[in-house]
Amino acid sequence: MTVSEAIRRRRSIRRYQAGIVIPREEICQMLEAAMMAPSACNTRPWEFIVVEDKARREELAKVHPYCSFAPAASLVIVVCGLPERQEATGGWEFWPQDCGAAIENLLLEAYALGYGTCWCGVYPNPERVRALQELLGITSTPLAAVAVGAPAESPAARGFFDERKVRFL
Ligand SMILES: Cc1cc2nc3c(=O)[nH]c(=O)nc-3n(C[C@H](O)[C@H](O)[C@H](O)COP(=O)(O)O)c2cc1C
Repeated sequence: MTVSEAIRRRRSIRRYQAGIVIPREEICQMLEAAMMAPSACNTRPWEFIVVEDKARREELAKVHPYCSFAPAASLVIVVCGLPERQEATGGWEFWPQDCGAAIENLLLEAYALGYGTCWCGVYPNPERVRALQELLGITSTPLAAVAVGAPAESPAARGFFDERKVRFL
């Protein structure tokens, strides 16, 4: 599969096949792809919490109003920012952009491996940030919870190209 195909075919998946265990090496392949993302001043201000434990995913679904499918997925990867790593950027908060780039890489790599994903936003909602920090026992800032699993639905690819959103100068 080419990168171009993955970009165009990927859809958010919210229904997952039960009982699928993702091998550790595939999880690491997704995380490696995430960590390959570009990063402002190469600060790489992120950490990744892989939530395989179903009880914690059930708790996650209780504190995140739009992530009810977390327990049905095989796992959830919580992508967290480390704002204190931003010194090299002159204190500018580029970390959400860095983490966003990492998440997109993760989604595409998962898709290329045959898995479905759904990006569930956490930061900048303060209640969700606090709830996930407590649930996971972390001090970093959770930006998103990414559900990953074998898809039990196959939404059609869509096109969003809109030339009205482009200006050539
Ligand atoms: C920052 C961000 C936050 C999102 N949060 C949620 C969420 O909480 N729950 C959810 O089901 N989908 C969430 N999504 C997925 C979007 O709903 C989805 O990407 C959009 O509807 C386009 O559909 P597609 O991903 O299938 O192309 C989020 C996506 C982004 C980029």
